[in-house]
Amino acid sequence: MSAQWFLFLLSFVLAFLMHFAAVSTLTHTIIAQNNNTIITGDRLALLGIKSMIKDDPQGVMTSWNHSTTNFCEWQGVTCSPRHQRVTHLNLSSGGLIGTLSPSIGNLSFLREIRLSNNSFSGEIPPEIGRLFRLQQLRLYNNSFMGNIPEAITNCSKLRVLILGSNNLVGKIPDGIGSLSMLYILGVKNNILEGGIPPFIANLTLLEMLTFDDCQLGGSLPDVFQRLTNLRILDMSGNNLIGTIPPSLYNCSSLEIVILGNNQLTGRLH
Ligand SMILES: *[C@@H]1O[C@H](CO)[C@@H](O)[C@H](O)[C@H]1NC(C)=O
Ligand SMILES: *[C@@H]1O[C@H](CO)[C@@H](O)[C@H](O)[C@H]1NC(C)=O
Ligand SMILES: *[C@@H]1O[C@H](CO)[C@@H](O)[C@H](O)[C@H]1NC(C)=O
Ligand SMILES: *[C@@H]1O[C@H](CO)[C@@H](O)[C@H](O)[C@H]1NC(C)=O
Ligand SMILES: *[C@@H]1O[C@H](CO)[C@@H](O)[C@H](O)[C@H]1NC(C)=O
Ligand SMILES: *[C@@H]1O[C@H](CO)[C@@H](O)[C@H](O)[C@H]1NC(C)=O
Ligand SMILES: *[C@@H]1O[C@H](CO)[C@@H](O)[C@H](O)[C@H]1NC(C)=O
Ligand SMILES: *[C@@H]1O[C@H](CO)[C@@H](O)[C@H](O)[C@H]1NC(C)=O
Ligand SMILES: *[C@@H]1O[C@H](CO)[C@@H](O)[C@H](O)[C@H]1NC(C)=O
Repeated sequence: MSAQWFLFLLSFVLAFLMHFAAVSTLTHTIIAQNNNTIITGDRLALLGIKSMIKDDPQGVMTSWNHSTTNFCEWQGVTCSPRHQRVTHLNLSSGGLIGTLSPSIGNLSFLREIRLSNNSFSGEIPPEIGRLFRLQQLRLYNNSFMGNIPEAITNCSKLRVLILGSNNLVGKIPDGIGSLSMLYILGVKNNILEGGIPPFIANLTLLEMLTFDDCQLGGSLPDVFQRLTNLRILDMSGNNLIGTIPPSLYNCSSLEIVILGNNQLTGRLH
């Protein structure tokens, strides 16, 4: 065989081998990617949430990276054992600074969102209204602004709704009166409009109701006769006028009542 022929054959074999290696790597990558995206759009939604975090000084989200680790093991993430879908997101007291990505609405198995004690600003994404399994939404002590989204009244299984100590404005949506499973409703320390919503009469499972320091006006509605589970009521630091409604005296489950710093008049029975 001539040297030319030998070189020709050698380069042919090499090219073949390289082509095969490239195709096999590519195929492998595609399978791995499909496994992550098709089986678990949750991974993308979580990375969407991370992408809106501007600063994470405590490194709470360091484990949320593109390496092959299962997202169910990322810090603050809990999955259902069977479906491997995200059910709990707990990033409380994480020192996080940023906004909350609308992609949270794609975590359709979520039951609890705990983001209290961080520095989230921007609006509460209305996409949360797509989370029909949601039972707890805890956003206490952030800098969320804008209105309380009407869309969260879609989350009919909500039991705990804590929005206190943010910069929320506007009216409390009437639809909250249809969240009949609520037992904790806390909106204290926001800049709200209007009065104490009469729909609280519908929330018969309520145990804790805090509307303190919200700049609410009007009188206290006489709606406490049906709130037979109410233990804690705080409406202090508003602009409430008028007298204490008779039904409040009948509310025998009450343990703590705070109504100070208003313009209530009349005698206590
Ligand atoms: C797909 O993911 C499952 C569980 O996360 C893993 O056991 C399996 O090996 C992965 N398959 C491929 C082809 O990557
Ligand atoms: C990615 O996450 C893994 C698992 O938590 C961690 O060991 C690793 O240091 C992280 N990698 C980077 C680049 O942050
Ligand atoms: C949520 O995370 C914080 C911080 O890691 C932790 O202290 C707290 O116990 C967690 N809460 C729940 C209900 O898991
Ligand atoms: C928020 O911070 C306060 C004060 O540090 C602490 O008492 C409270 O337990 C924290 N709440 C959560 C949910 O982390
Ligand atoms: C939610 O998922 C859908 C389809 O899987 C995708 O098209 C959409 O961009 C996602 N939305 C967000 C906000 O990530
Ligand atoms: C609010 O959260 C910050 C951390 O972001 C914490 O230092 C502060 O004590 C919290 N305040 C309350 C009233 O819980
Ligand atoms: C609320 O639910 C209704 C009816 O199921 C649906 O049409 C609407 O898109 C939902 N809103 C949001 C923000 O998910
Ligand atoms: C109370 O609930 C009933 C039935 O669910 C509903 O028709 C009514 O509009 C609610 N009232 C208020 C004030 O939300
Ligand atoms: C308080 O309870 C008594 C006895 O159950 C009842 O007769 C009265 O009508 C109630 N008053 C109000 C304002 O609900």
